[in-house]
Amino acid sequence: MCGIIGYVGPRVALDVAVAGLKRMEYRGYDSAGVAVIVGDHIELRKKAGKIANLEAELAARPIAPTQIAIGHTRWATHGGPTDENAHPHISANGRVALIHNGIIENFATLRQQLEAAGVPFQSKTDTEVAAQLLGREVEAGADLADAMRTVCRLLDGAFTLVALDVTQPGRLVAARRNSPLVVGVGEGENFVASDVAAFIEFTRSAIELGQDQVVDLDRDQVTITDFAGRPAQGKPYEVTWDLSAAEKSGYDWFMRKEIFEQPRAVADTLLGRFTDAGALKLDELHISEGHLRAVDKIIIVACGTAYYAGLVAKYAIEHWTRVACEVEIASEFRYRDPIITGRTLVVTISQSGETADTLMAIRHAREQGARIVAICNTNGSTIPRESDAVIYTHAGPEIGVASTKGFITQLAACYLLGLYLAQIRGTMFGDEIAGVMRELAATPPLIQKVLDTLEPMRDLAKRLAGKESFLFLGRHVGYPIAMEGALKLKEIAYVHAEGFAAGELKHGPIALVDKDVPVFIIVPPMGRDRLHDKVVSNIEEVRARGAHTIVLAEEGDLDVAPHADTLFRLPRVSTILQPLVSIVPLQFFACELATLLGYDVDQPRNLAKSVTVE
Ligand code: F6R
Repeated sequence: MCGIIGYVGPRVALDVAVAGLKRMEYRGYDSAGVAVIVGDHIELRKKAGKIANLEAELAARPIAPTQIAIGHTRWATHGGPTDENAHPHISANGRVALIHNGIIENFATLRQQLEAAGVPFQSKTDTEVAAQLLGREVEAGADLADAMRTVCRLLDGAFTLVALDVTQPGRLVAARRNSPLVVGVGEGENFVASDVAAFIEFTRSAIELGQDQVVDLDRDQVTITDFAGRPAQGKPYEVTWDLSAAEKSGYDWFMRKEIFEQPRAVADTLLGRFTDAGALKLDELHISEGHLRAVDKIIIVACGTAYYAGLVAKYAIEHWTRVACEVEIASEFRYRDPIITGRTLVVTISQSGETADTLMAIRHAREQGARIVAICNTNGSTIPRESDAVIYTHAGPEIGVASTKGFITQLAACYLLGLYLAQIRGTMFGDEIAGVMRELAATPPLIQKVLDTLEPMRDLAKRLAGKESFLFLGRHVGYPIAMEGALKLKEIAYVHAEGFAAGELKHGPIALVDKDVPVFIIVPPMGRDRLHDKVVSNIEEVRARGAHTIVLAEEGDLDVAPHADTLFRLPRVSTILQPLVSIVPLQFFACELATLLGYDVDQPRNLAKSVTVE
């Protein structure tokens, strides 16, 4: 959701900015723009639509090389996705150009005041207010960084701002509240961006800015203060992945690449979590064992795909720890006045670590006295920083908007957390925990086995490409997987899809079933699971109504064959871990179908990778 880049250094700054914007395309956007300083004025190019439109504009109206640039991809909130509303915005006096990620909540009042003072506006955005305020401050004689701090103190809401001043062609100033911003520290050059992917080609040294901080940079120096101007510290770190992780490496889509990276992603997430003695250790869990033993309720809060990972976690955590576990959509959580005490453990799951709904939910839970454990894939992002403990997933950068390896590693981390709590609370014997851990550690080759046998899903996608509606059924941990399978299809193939608990079907949704509605059914392991036979009956219920049934069942399950129009075999794993293998064909099917339908799989319409507005 909005990508921001600023560069100052010896390279052709515009090229750095445009390349950085391309690497952040996955965040989701509907217009793009750049600004540079040429002589005594600011040159601006901005266009609605894809970055290709901006590049065409730059080709038609080229700009001489400069050593400072800012660039922006915008995901429209206030004001439609038009050329005028695209960022950067220039102040009416021509002094500053500014880009913004977030929402300025008090922009209407500020705009009225500025208009009353005679300031003309060019756009309908909330952002332009910040550009105008900054332009007036510097025009009145304020230093650029002081002016930025003054403006930040006037704004309410979420904002990352980056600005340049026409009178200072070697200097950039940026500010951060709630939305992400990272500094890239190079040799004789510096960067600011929403995401390290934007500058990973040039440097891996990063500084994560804290909440309410301003950074002032030229090509040699980076100075950080708080909004009051007091010296402040960012958090320096080295990015551990390289450019190839942010590239497609021969795949047509990032999503497909990420689906195929899942065995490694799960293995990396599990790596180093066992001691030689077979006990589990979660190094980043800085909450005392005494506190974890006293926990009497767990609430998992997350959004979208991460919420479905949370639903799977509920089955595992309650089964292994016997602690009541609720799972809640983050955007609903704080508005229903949840019951939280000092003995409540809130577990939050977020790939990006920046999702505004999730962030607000954990802030609310902390205010009520809960301890927070974050499961997160993005080092140094806001959600883990505001949590008491973190279990990092090691999926590597996830660029496809539809989450795949992010999800599967969230599942792995949830299992680890459940087993760890069982170990601390003594609700499972050590050898039972070791047994599940061994099985968990053995899943990456099983996920690989699924990946090696996906060909039938390709054919199936061809056969079902004209269908307008799909159903997904599952029970127990198969139920969240059914919903996640449906979400993947909605997100990227734009077809109607719903996931249901298979037992719930007869209470209403079965009315939707007819010969034109293919139904995916996830079958629990045979024999070892009491729900197996009930799901087989559910398959027959939909088949009797003419549906094409696509059955995902484990190898050797002979009972299902007569009920399946298409049968996809899953490797044998215990029920609770089955999501690690059952989700993979559903992800692949969605990717295949969306590709066949000609859609942009990595950047589906209306969606953003990191949803930094509530
Ligand atoms: C779906 C998807 C979204 C995210 C959701 C939460 O494929 O990616 O539903 O799961 O927006 O995002 P994070 O995990 O970054 O908090």
